[in-house]
Amino acid sequence: MSLVQDLEALAIDIAREAGELARVRREAGVAIAATKSALADIVTEADREVEALIRARLAAERPEDGFLGEETGADTGSSGVTWVVDPIDGTVNYAYGIPAYAVSIAAVQGEPTPEAWEALAGVVYAPVGDELFHTALGDGAWLGDRRLSVNPEVGPAGALLATGFGYDPATRPGDLELSGTVLPLARDLRRAGAASLDLSYVAAGRLDGYFERGLAPWDLAAGSLLVTEAGGRFGRAMPDGSRRAPLVVAATPAIYDALASTAGLT
Ligand code: IPD
Ligand code: CA
Repeated sequence: MSLVQDLEALAIDIAREAGELARVRREAGVAIAATKSALADIVTEADREVEALIRARLAAERPEDGFLGEETGADTGSSGVTWVVDPIDGTVNYAYGIPAYAVSIAAVQGEPTPEAWEALAGVVYAPVGDELFHTALGDGAWLGDRRLSVNPEVGPAGALLATGFGYDPATRPGDLELSGTVLPLARDLRRAGAASLDLSYVAAGRLDGYFERGLAPWDLAAGSLLVTEAGGRFGRAMPDGSRRAPLVVAATPAIYDALASTAGLT
């Protein structure tokens, strides 16, 4: 197996174990442990426990690699590979008992920031429904053993799009304005609450496109590689007129240019 396939296989193994832990903890009941950047931005004991499991497994298997996790931060490695991890993406869904949550694990090379890294492998595992989205650079995107490709075309009713809203109340009016700007392209708009799954769904053709401002590196590391390996396009840049939060656009090539320019991706 090549390096990227080794990294993918390890990520699959760990994501399955981590997802099962999250699912079991959810069944036992969830308590909010703390709030983070805003009152709506929460962390549960399960987020912390799942990240600890992933971090310990990676440290045991690949001690030279770096780590960047949502709950425990960054550790520099010496191999050039960094693992970018969201232990539970869709934490608010998780806390409310909505099944749309996932473990997201990616291996990237280079500086561990989305502008600079090259994603090598990624896994998004949704334990409820047992859906395992996985990819390695150059090897395609897969849901279990089914190869994924983005939708080849968008129907006359328009694109099925998804978006998300950041936790900071101050950014909400801008998020709504952006949705309104993009809406003429859409047959409908989803806000499911887990960016890694939104990106996986673009890869799987369950969505035609997705856009969101202000995503963190762990929200998009695995999902962006799933999109491009499924034949989609992914862009991340400052929106027109804003220096604050980068805008992400991911879509089938059939709608990408229209979506990116309407959303103001520069
Ligand atoms: C959040 C989810 C949500 C997105 C937010 C993310 P979290 O991640 O992906 O869909 O709209 O921008 O922060 O907090 O559930 O890991
Ligand atoms: Ca999270």
